[in-house]
Amino acid sequence: MRKPIIAGNWKMNGNLAEAEILVKDCIPRLSGIDRTDMVICPPYTALALVQSLLGSTIISMGAQDMFWKDKGAYTGEISAPMLKELGCRYVIVGHSERRARFGVPEPDFTPEILLHFGDNNAIVNKKAHAAVNAGLIPIICVGEILTERHAGDTDRIVEDQTRKALAGFSSSQASQIVMAYEPVWAIGTGEVCAADEADRVCGVIRKAIADCLGEEASQIIRIQYGGSVKPDNAADLLSRPNIDGALVGGASLKAADFAAIIAAS
Ligand code: PGA
Repeated sequence: MRKPIIAGNWKMNGNLAEAEILVKDCIPRLSGIDRTDMVICPPYTALALVQSLLGSTIISMGAQDMFWKDKGAYTGEISAPMLKELGCRYVIVGHSERRARFGVPEPDFTPEILLHFGDNNAIVNKKAHAAVNAGLIPIICVGEILTERHAGDTDRIVEDQTRKALAGFSSSQASQIVMAYEPVWAIGTGEVCAADEADRVCGVIRKAIADCLGEEASQIIRIQYGGSVKPDNAADLLSRPNIDGALVGGASLKAADFAAIIAAS
C-alpha cells in the first residue's frame, strides 16, 4: 500500500507576509494527519521563512525547481545542496511550466519560449539525479499537451518522458522518487482530467516505470495527479488505484482548500 502524498505548488505566488499567513493557516488544519505525506512548495524567497514556521511539524517542504550542478558560475540558479540546507525534502522537476513545450501559445507573450524555461527530457533527468544525489526526493512531472492528446499521442509521450526521466536510476532508488502525471491542458485551466482517464494514464506511467526499474520499483514509486485538483474533485481522483496523491497548484493557495484535498486522500 503506497502512502498518499499531496504537494502544494505555490508557483510564483506569495510575498513573505502572505507566505506566513498561509503556512500559519495550514499548520493547525493539517496537524495530526499521518496517513498522508504533505508537502508545501513555496517560492525560493520564502523557503527559509516557511521552514522556520513548519519547524518540527509533520509537513515537509519542497522547492519548485533547481539546477543540476552543485555550485559554480551559473548566475541565477540554485542547487540541490542549497535547497537541502534550507530544509527542503522534495523538489519538483520537469514541471510543464519549466519544460520547453506548451499547449496553446498565449498571444500576449512572444516569442513563446518566454513562457517556459527550456527544460527538456535530458535536463529533467540531470535534475532528478542531482536531487537524489543530494538527498532530495524529486517530484518528476510528465504530461501531454492538448494537441498531443487530440492526436492520440498521450501514452507515447508520457512513456517517453518517464523513461528518459528515469534513465540511469536503479530499482533500489525507487523510494527516493515521486512521479506526477500532469496533463498540461488541465493545469491552471479549471479543466480537470476525468478520474478514469487520469488513473489510466498513471497506469501507463507505472508500466513505463516497471520497464525501466522493474515491477517491484513500479509498485513503490508514488504517482501523483496534477491539474485543477480542487476539494470537489479530489476524492474521486484520489480513490483510483494508480493515483497516489496530488500535485496541487491554485487550490494550495487557500489553506481550507488544501486541507480539504488532503482530507480527501
Ligand atoms: P493547478 O496547477 O492545480 O493550478 O492546475 C497544478 C500544477 O501546476 O501542478
